[in-house]
Amino acid sequence: MIIAANFKTNKTRAQTRDYMDEVNGFIRSENIKSEIMVFPPLTAFDNFGQGATLGAQNAYAVENGAFTGEIGLDQLKEFGIKTILLGHSERRHILGETQEEISFKFAYFQSLGYQIVYCIGEQLETRKAGKTALMRYIETQLVGIDMEYENLVVAYEPVWAIGTGLVPSNEDIKSIHADLRAKTSRPLLYGGSVKVSNMKEIVEIDNVDGVLVGGASLYAGNFCEMIKIAEEA
Ligand code: 13P
Repeated sequence: MIIAANFKTNKTRAQTRDYMDEVNGFIRSENIKSEIMVFPPLTAFDNFGQGATLGAQNAYAVENGAFTGEIGLDQLKEFGIKTILLGHSERRHILGETQEEISFKFAYFQSLGYQIVYCIGEQLETRKAGKTALMRYIETQLVGIDMEYENLVVAYEPVWAIGTGLVPSNEDIKSIHADLRAKTSRPLLYGGSVKVSNMKEIVEIDNVDGVLVGGASLYAGNFCEMIKIAEEA
């Protein structure tokens, strides 16, 4: 199981430190075997010791240079970061990243051996158009992506389920993950309104190898509870 926390634009450096102390302490004391990842805002990057893998929510595909407002490889390396989230719906739909830009980043970080958590997912109107349309849309998010990259983790996050409290039915998740399984042998995460109360049923769905959690991961106690549920599932 892989259980990942995406803080998005939440938490300060000090808050992240407290969080990581609690979560890493839990991972060690409970002897957690699952892979735990935390994606804090980049201002909170630090060395937190043994426990969760620290990942970047985004970076520019460059070592360093003149790209105002971006960070590159040098800044990731300073904190030993070798895991990156790419293709998140908020970067696609709010920040306007195109598939071309995302696949360029993918190739760059793949060439460096980074662990890539690659996000895909449809918007509500596509969902309403039915499964065939949905999978056709997902295909457009796989253009230029090496689906058998050895350090790839795929996260299926329906946009309409992110931060809304809405979750697809277990049958829908099962069916979409089965189709994704035909496209990759790499771990498949589900994301979108995962919380303590629905964690168990979601991680028990066929071809769900873990979860990517936003809002519900922000409280360390909640996140630890979710880790425990996944570990016991
Ligand atoms: P929520 O868990 O807040 O719905 O967010 C999911 C997400 O976007 C994780 O990347």
